[in-house]
Amino acid sequence: MAQSSFPLQTSARYHSPRFVKRCADEFQWKDLSKDVVMDIGCGDELHCCKAILMQFPDVRELIAVDKESTVFQTAHFRNRIEFCVGDIQERDDFKSYEGKMNKILSTDAFHLIIDKEAAFRNVYRLLKPGGEAGFLFYVNSCMNKFLMALMEIPKYRAILKGTSLGNMYPPEHGKQYYKDMLEKIGFKHVRAFEEERNLPFNTDECFKDSILERFRIHYKISPEAAETLQEEVLELYENVVGRRDGKLCYVTVQLNLLGVKPMES
Ligand SMILES: C[S@@+](CC[C@H](N)C(=O)[O-])C[C@H]1O[C@@H](n2cnc3c(N)ncnc32)[C@H](O)[C@@H]1O
Repeated sequence: MAQSSFPLQTSARYHSPRFVKRCADEFQWKDLSKDVVMDIGCGDELHCCKAILMQFPDVRELIAVDKESTVFQTAHFRNRIEFCVGDIQERDDFKSYEGKMNKILSTDAFHLIIDKEAAFRNVYRLLKPGGEAGFLFYVNSCMNKFLMALMEIPKYRAILKGTSLGNMYPPEHGKQYYKDMLEKIGFKHVRAFEEERNLPFNTDECFKDSILERFRIHYKISPEAAETLQEEVLELYENVVGRRDGKLCYVTVQLNLLGVKPMES
């Protein structure tokens, strides 16, 4: 297979270094040798933790959080990172950390969280007064639009039977929505900006391979269904998402959301 993974996955490792750099610029971080930093939804590759360690090797303490204990099975950087299993929507999972974090970052995780307001409130509780938080997450993806279009076609609706396809990205949940949410919670100096990302598939064959792999993994479709899908899916994707510079792309919108917990809180 020419390209076995989705461009989104292969590009994930580049988001974190850029986002850590952006937070460092926006918040004017120079030296984190006195700071406790937490990464929410660290994942098994620890992209964000690695970026923090790379850019701030003197960071005093780094705490990696994930709701899945399995992500900590590979013991990377065990000597530099404290691991914490917890669901950021659940305050009780983090009681012992409340009010102790100088900085909290999260990359590519908050779009997966159902109750974002509860999660942001818990982040706020975890921060020290004057603490800073930065979140990078998806607020739109062409995949949702494509799956919705697929579900309109009875044959595919049957194939994808049982797949819950609620719209993860309601159009009104953009930068203003999340800025207002953070301000309501008490964050100050909230900055929110969106970035569209077009991740090209090298060839149409790469697209077909990638999309089929995704369907097999996420929707557990049968080999026969995969065959049917492979034939027609490209045309449908092209109609719904289009091409950029002649190439099929995975198009997403990421939100950069930054805020500060006031000193007097
Ligand atoms: C796509 S991975 C991103 C990993 C990494 N941050 C990165 O930038 O590559 C999302 C991670 O967030 C975790 N996650 C999702 N919901 C969470 C929650 N409510 N609390 C804590 N972690 C969560 C998942 O288990 C997964 O490991």
